[in-house]
Amino acid sequence: MSKAEIRFDGQVYEMPVFEGTENEKAIEIKTLRSVSGLVTLDPGYKNTGATTSAITFLDGEKGILRYRGYPIEQLAEKSTFLEVAYLLIYGDLPSKQKYEEFTQNIREHTLVHEDFKTILDGFPSAAHPMGVLSSMVTALTAFYPEALDPNRSWESVDMGIIRMMAKLPTFAAWAHKNAKGHPVIYPDNRLDYCSNFLKMMFALPSEDYEADPVVSAALEKLLILHADHEQNCSTSTVRIVGSSQASLASSISAGISALWGPLHGGANQAVIEMLEAIKNDGGDTKKYLNKAKDKDDTFRLMGFGHRVYKNFDPRAKIIKKAADSVLLKLGVNDPILEIAKGLEEAALEDPYFVEKKLYPNVDFYSGIIYRALGIPTNMFTVMFALGRLPGWIAQWKEMRENNEPIGRPRQIYTGANERDYVDVNAR
Ligand code: ACO
Repeated sequence: MSKAEIRFDGQVYEMPVFEGTENEKAIEIKTLRSVSGLVTLDPGYKNTGATTSAITFLDGEKGILRYRGYPIEQLAEKSTFLEVAYLLIYGDLPSKQKYEEFTQNIREHTLVHEDFKTILDGFPSAAHPMGVLSSMVTALTAFYPEALDPNRSWESVDMGIIRMMAKLPTFAAWAHKNAKGHPVIYPDNRLDYCSNFLKMMFALPSEDYEADPVVSAALEKLLILHADHEQNCSTSTVRIVGSSQASLASSISAGISALWGPLHGGANQAVIEMLEAIKNDGGDTKKYLNKAKDKDDTFRLMGFGHRVYKNFDPRAKIIKKAADSVLLKLGVNDPILEIAKGLEEAALEDPYFVEKKLYPNVDFYSGIIYRALGIPTNMFTVMFALGRLPGWIAQWKEMRENNEPIGRPRQIYTGANERDYVDVNAR
């Protein structure tokens, strides 16, 4: 094993260098503090590997993304979301029999306890569906108390995984129905995962509903593209919550909350709101590019930039192509697609964006497809959560199987030094 040397205060400390299967190298600093008194400082973990992982490989410079070794381009074109979910969670593509068992098992658990309707009824229609979703997932802990202990048995953990995969689409669609003030639609287990979700989203009790196969297929692709992305904000949250031996449901619920913010999964909603604002403001993309570049303006070009992709986001490439084809197939003419394309073109030629290596990310075009599929803007981040679920589960399971220690970063204290308490009347 190669070693790196750290020199400090006239001493040399040798630290082992760990090498991953794709030749990424990392200095292991586990013993640094005990031998030298030093810790490392890296706000936002921009250059810190929190774990080793065998699930997803990405190379941000080359724009590579693979789940368990399989390129995202191949999976998005040829696979199904549930097959990808199996791959991520259990480590390999399923045999035909295993795939059938897995999908059947999920179908059988899509229904949620009737009391969830009472919980849903407690939310006002104005509740954001992401808040409703994370609350419903937390509420699972009350209905399946045996799943609270992740050490109980493998069977109980696996049952929790199946339930989570099966029930999240039901919760997601019901969160939408709540926002609309409409009655919920029960799952239809004759349907595949995406068609069942679409039915629960869009059907009315008084009407027959059949999902458009173009819409189902587009959804399948979007979910695959969002299924995992290694140690991002929400996934790291899931792992760190799970590292305290909290249940799968509470860890996933925390992940949903972490995803919600506009710098992460909330970006897809923010992109559409931004594109609409530009359209309503006369379509002047230059004005908004200038705002994004202005240091005194907090405005950022939503859907642009990524912590790890510095050349292109491979998912964005696939989604841009899919957006064109879905809009064409559905005969949708969305003026904000033109604004998005114009904005992308202008940004890619602008020295500010070029120098900072800011490119469209997965969410720049995903909202445009969701709109074309009839999904309302406040549900975009929920769609992301549906897609990311198998990744969160796989990462949680890996963390548990590797027996990882509780996540507990250090800090460098910069506050007041010791001082004596002063009575309130003397202050
Ligand atoms: N518009 C304008 N300037 C930007 C943008 C943007 N979208 N993104 C980054 N920059 C600038 C920053 O101001 C910073 O400039 P400086 O070096 O002069 O201070 C520089 O580029 C680096 O940006 P950081 O915020 O330091 O980069 P970081 O890796 O921390 O952030 C992030 C990445 C959060 C994705 C950022 O690019 C961003 O806010 N993008 C817009 C939100 C978005 O689309 N998020 C979705 C990400 S994908 C996902 O989570 C699924």
